[in-house]
Amino acid sequence: MAKKRILSGMRPTGKLHIGHYVGALENWVKLQDEYESYHLIADYHVLTTSLKNDDMYENTIEMVIDWLATGLDPVKSPFFRQSQIKEHTELHLLFSMLVTAARLERNPTVKEQVRDLHIENVSYGHLGYPVLQSADILLYKGEAVPVGEDQVPHVEITREIARRFNSTYGKVFPEPEALLTKFARLPGLDGNAKMSKSLNNTILLSDGKEEVEKRLRKAVTDPQKVRRNDPGRPDVCLVFTYHKKFNESEVNEIRAGCESGALGCVDCKLKCTAKINTFLEPIIEKRNYYENNLDEVKDILHDGEMRGKIVAEQTMDDVHKAMKFG
Ligand code: TRP
Repeated sequence: MAKKRILSGMRPTGKLHIGHYVGALENWVKLQDEYESYHLIADYHVLTTSLKNDDMYENTIEMVIDWLATGLDPVKSPFFRQSQIKEHTELHLLFSMLVTAARLERNPTVKEQVRDLHIENVSYGHLGYPVLQSADILLYKGEAVPVGEDQVPHVEITREIARRFNSTYGKVFPEPEALLTKFARLPGLDGNAKMSKSLNNTILLSDGKEEVEKRLRKAVTDPQKVRRNDPGRPDVCLVFTYHKKFNESEVNEIRAGCESGALGCVDCKLKCTAKINTFLEPIIEKRNYYENNLDEVKDILHDGEMRGKIVAEQTMDDVHKAMKFG
């Protein structure tokens, strides 16, 4: 039986952090054998929240290096930029007729962005964020989309657009499903629910040993555990969440030590630092290779864009026929 197709996407924001790994990349790497995968670099989407894009290319390359370093295989699954495959813009335009403005205004993810980034007047393009995302997914006839919770409304809009298209012009598109990432997102070092570069509460996949130690040393822990021997509450401590992810084998021991007061925060953080560094070591090694072989990275991208374009052109042929264009 043919493998199902997935389309995954990320905005190119530069170097990625361990939260990106836990929330997305780890899952993508696992899925690439089971599915036929396509990996989209959503560079147009960056413009919805930041018009200034001097770093776009550099950020794209850094992100691609992180994708490669964590084990995404570009031979199995092409990587491509939205901006290099013009069919995205055309399908976005056609799809924009199939969704109402009111539907887009109700989208909770855009509402949240407007609130968090203090956007006074939402642009037409920003409101259309999920329409562009629908075009991203359906241009490759994606049947599944690996996403976190916040993107589920966008996949729902994609399904509605696919349905509307199919019932109006004839069946061209699948109705894609969201594949939810299982692990809840990793909290930031400051205790914020989300790890994010703009909050400066991250550990980057490219952070060296000392940097990881320095950053973890400052991490917020249970405020009730003031002195070493005070009993702590692992379930409110973000460092414990990191242990759960990166130090599975010692989790029970760490919990017991924290709760009894036998394990102090300093030692607990050192244990965690060691595990995260062990995890990052091979990633950094691969990163260094690609940093020193940037031409290879560029070739990977160009190759992916050629392969992506072939699929995009086929889909647009189907769309043109169905809509009686040409
Ligand atoms: N909206 C996604 C995000 O902010 C990025 C994205 C753009 C995407 N196009 C996509 C994700 C297509 C999945 C499929 O993370």
